[in-house]
Amino acid sequence: MWIEVVEGDITRLEVDAIVNAAAPSLLGGGGVDGAIHRAAGPRLLEACRVLPEVSPGVRCRVGDVRVTPGFDLPARYVIHTVGPIWRGGNHGEAGELAACYRHAIRVASGLELTSIAFPAISCGVYGYPVAAASAVAVAVIHATQARDVAITLCCYSPETADAVRRALLT
Ligand code: APR
Repeated sequence: MWIEVVEGDITRLEVDAIVNAAAPSLLGGGGVDGAIHRAAGPRLLEACRVLPEVSPGVRCRVGDVRVTPGFDLPARYVIHTVGPIWRGGNHGEAGELAACYRHAIRVASGLELTSIAFPAISCGVYGYPVAAASAVAVAVIHATQARDVAITLCCYSPETADAVRRALLT
């Protein structure tokens, strides 16, 4: 397996799939979700809108993933996932965050993709501490042993990149 840490905007990455840290509605938002929708163009919202709701207003539960094309993005696919909202760490957040990474990698392998880029899921609006989230991400990536998929951890700030690099060293 190949893991790379990059600093920058995930919407610019030329990979097979980028992961979106979305809301359960999958109808867009701020942060990386907003950036992905802006860069992918309006067809992304239409593709999300037609995905079936699993409960009223919910197209993707926490820890699950849904796949759409990337439309105007360099990436062929967007793998949408919903991270947990941080509530202090004793409400199953780590397991839910791990499920986001595990399911996204599994879907990428199933589609025979060779490269996937993740943002720091849950580390913005959802408030997950970056160091703890990085440890979860790295542990899952190592555990999945998806040897044929190159994984990029895309960090929007140098502080996030430092936290991810530290997690990779431990
Ligand atoms: N490229 C890479 N990373 C980015 C980008 C970008 N263009 N824009 C923001 N980020 C980073 C943030 O700095 C943060 O580290 O992505 C990480 C995740 O932050 P959020 O986008 O706020 O995602 P999250 O914490 O999972 O919250 C999800 O926010 O926008 C809404 O619809 C979204 O309700 C959902 C919630």
